[in-house]
Amino acid sequence: SSSGNGFPNFRRKPVIIIVVGMAGSGKTTLMHRLVAHTHIKNIRGYVMNLDPAVMTLPYASNIDIRDTVKYKEVMKQFNLGPNGGILTSMNLFATKFNEVISMIERRADQLDYVLVDTPGQIEIFTWSASGAIITEAFASTFPTVVAYVVDTPRSEDPTTFMSNMLYACSILYKTRLPLILTFNKVDVAAHQFALEWMEDFEAFQTAASSDQSYTSTLTQSLSLVLDEFYNNLKSVGVSAVSGAGMEAFFQVVEASADEYMDTY
Ligand code: GTP
Repeated sequence: SSSGNGFPNFRRKPVIIIVVGMAGSGKTTLMHRLVAHTHIKNIRGYVMNLDPAVMTLPYASNIDIRDTVKYKEVMKQFNLGPNGGILTSMNLFATKFNEVISMIERRADQLDYVLVDTPGQIEIFTWSASGAIITEAFASTFPTVVAYVVDTPRSEDPTTFMSNMLYACSILYKTRLPLILTFNKVDVAAHQFALEWMEDFEAFQTAASSDQSYTSTLTQSLSLVLDEFYNNLKSVGVSAVSGAGMEAFFQVVEASADEYMDTY
């Protein structure tokens, strides 16, 4: 089926899932778990790695930036540091991204999802021109969602929680794609507190008011701003380690893809 978005080649499948997360959020472990889940459940998926600098991945990928761009050579050739090397490698890959899209289009009838892993330094993908080019190439061809991985135990601190939500908010407005707050590590801390804080900003303000630091006034004001942001989000609790929440994750992805078809 095609959506009303005016893109002539638009398809309902596969759904592109771009996985982003702060360092330490457990993004790589979660990718591994999601890939394993698709294998167990016979879900038809592709895996794409967009991190040119990663040494080893715990899962097999179908499309890997490292097959096209040699990060170490790019660093040498252009005399760049690590981050410049990653950025330039992504730029080089972005120039060939139409070929990647065509490859997925050819396989579209056999694919339900494409899971996309992004560079460990989140801002290299979310704030670069090539990240935007890649995101838009996906989004103009397939329903595309962003899974933002949150370190749930670390976010129990109200100020950390809010910083994390502000970052997610900036990604939502930058990409203008459905964002799924993916609360990881629920084997260590349930994400119920986060749901309560998102549901009721007064509950969050109460929690934040125990923090006597100078930021707490700002925290309280910003919680009002974020209230509107939360209305536009879906969230799910998962554990990359225990495997909890995998079914729920894919249900939320499907709901977001349906919404995408209606909205974009
Ligand atoms: P990259 O930046 O992509 O390298 O990954 P990352 O730093 O976001 O996360 P990584 O997968 O390396 O995980 C960071 C740490 O969190 C590791 O020690 C993982 O074992 C741990 N971890 C990841 N997911 C979970 C989880 O669901 N539960 C628990 N308890 N620990 C987890």
